[in-house]
Amino acid sequence: MNILLLGSGGREHALAWKLTQSPILTELFCAPGNAGIAQIAKCVDLQVNDHPGILKFCADNTISFVVVGPEGPLVAGLADELQEAGIGVFGPSEYASQLEGSKGFTKDLCAEFNIPTAAYKRFTEATSAKAFLDEMSIPVVIKAAGLAAGKGVIIAETRAQAEEAIDDCFAGSFGEAGHEVVIEAFLEGEEASLFALCDGQTAMLLGTAQDHKRVGDGDTGPNTGGMGAYSPAPVMTQELIDQTMSDIIVPTLAGMHSRGHPFKGILYAGLMLTKNGPELIEYNVRFGDPECQVLMPRLKSDLLELMIAASEASLLQHDAEWTDDCALSVVLAAKGYPGSYEKNTVIEGVERAENDGALVFHAGTAADGDKLLAIGGRVLNVTAIAPCVSDAQTKAYQAVDAISWENGFCRRDIGWRAVRREKA
Ligand code: AMP
Ligand code: GLY
Repeated sequence: MNILLLGSGGREHALAWKLTQSPILTELFCAPGNAGIAQIAKCVDLQVNDHPGILKFCADNTISFVVVGPEGPLVAGLADELQEAGIGVFGPSEYASQLEGSKGFTKDLCAEFNIPTAAYKRFTEATSAKAFLDEMSIPVVIKAAGLAAGKGVIIAETRAQAEEAIDDCFAGSFGEAGHEVVIEAFLEGEEASLFALCDGQTAMLLGTAQDHKRVGDGDTGPNTGGMGAYSPAPVMTQELIDQTMSDIIVPTLAGMHSRGHPFKGILYAGLMLTKNGPELIEYNVRFGDPECQVLMPRLKSDLLELMIAASEASLLQHDAEWTDDCALSVVLAAKGYPGSYEKNTVIEGVERAENDGALVFHAGTAADGDKLLAIGGRVLNVTAIAPCVSDAQTKAYQAVDAISWENGFCRRDIGWRAVRREKA
């Protein structure tokens, strides 16, 4: 069958890499893709928000299944449009995508179905929001309720900061995402992510991971889209995994089903491991980036078959096989990221890194003849797999050092929590 994959990041390169191993794939197209994806799939000059263009491309190229990488098109209803056109799709409906698109929606679902999460309240204007602060202890968390590309969350350490954050949201600092504000209690603990593949009724555990959101070593500096990840996350013991599945994932699926909007696709649960157990910080309705880059190399089963089973509500008839090995991915980013950075600088040595045994997933890259150019903030994901996380870390950084890119940088401590646990 012909497949269209939507997106252009490292996540999509990892998905493309895995999809091309499927025995049921005829041809893989990717819109818009990047220079790495172009080596294994046919890239198409179409943007992911161009729904009419995507529908036409599918019709013209006998695409029978579309895999949606990022959340934007899902929240905007692309899965519904494809389904109405008779095209299979991996990703939730517009309604179900509110689990990522609206923090208020998710918090209300948690309240209705008794899913552990921080105490909260939703507001549409500043006066009552500020009055509610009287009932909260400090620190307190102020969130723009809509899609804010990983921004829009302020941990206020003082009452004044909290009031300023409320004013900022309603003044439009986060655009439309800030028209509604969620105020919630601050949760203490270590963060981890759990990924479940869902077919509307059944959830299959895909794995756990930890991301590194801050730009600098030692988790310092501003937040980014993610500077590196590893899987599995050893902090997620079997007991915590079971608890997350039974107390968070399963009731979410049941709740969505009972509302007549079954959730199909990836549920990516951002968790805080508190002293009372795992609590939900947020849901995403797609794979994480760079978490996907460490999940795919560990999956032994056919990804395409699993995605189709999720879309056709037949996951119960499938199993997924995973290697016990650890995967670790280091993001190479352009100097200046997450602020402004130079574009079109030259990268050399990717093949050397691959010859060292690493998988190099591209994000913001473009080819210019034989040259590889950096055109984005996050540019490469150097990924290694090994029986223990310390070895995966060593192997990944060896491969990083084989790459010459004067204008790039990376964190040097990806995996530090897991390595410390392993050495303890
Ligand atoms: P979110 O976009 O909701 O995932 O929030 C982004 C980051 O803010 C999370 O990864 C956490 O580090 C932090 N965060 C969000 N909500 C809370 C909370 N209730 N308590 C503590 N930290 C939080
Ligand atoms: N790495 C965080 C995310 O994909 O949302």
